[in-house]
Amino acid sequence: MANPSVLFVCLGNICRSPLAEAALRRAAAAAGRAIDVDSAGTGDWHVGHPPDSRAQAEARRHGVDIAGLRGRQVEPVDFERFDLILAADDRNLEHLHAMRPTGATARLALMLDMVPGRAGEGVIDPYYGGPEGFAATWADVTAVADAVLAHDGLLHDGWTPPRTG
Ligand code: 4NP
Repeated sequence: MANPSVLFVCLGNICRSPLAEAALRRAAAAAGRAIDVDSAGTGDWHVGHPPDSRAQAEARRHGVDIAGLRGRQVEPVDFERFDLILAADDRNLEHLHAMRPTGATARLALMLDMVPGRAGEGVIDPYYGGPEGFAATWADVTAVADAVLAHDGLLHDGWTPPRTG
């Protein structure tokens, strides 16, 4: 069977979703688990760009090098390719629901829907703030990564994420 697969989505694909990708890659490696992980943006401003330098610095502080990532936009085939697509906030989730192809198999939820007690919360966009916002993002996305690993066996076989409407 193919590895479970997760796509993280934010607006620009240069701050929150690359950090979420980094956090899950790191947590999966530490746990010895094989999960396919990627990230994408709903917007097109940063297609081809590396992650924001502040996001790179935050990841580096936690031992993860994300300098090689490049921004890309969500595309229809993502809804077939990934088991689970996790959006940073409601705006991104609405965008995903609107572009979801008929019959698509991916389940959609907010990133923080995965974390017990935090369903419905958005990961706050750190783009317009200072470096402390990126530390808060890292804390959120590591909680998401741990929760995804806890749900790993449920990514197949009829599991539906909380709050999926
Ligand atoms: P992200 O942050 O969605 O977490 O990558 C943003 C990055 C860029 C922009 C907005 C949010 N922007 O407007 O360019």
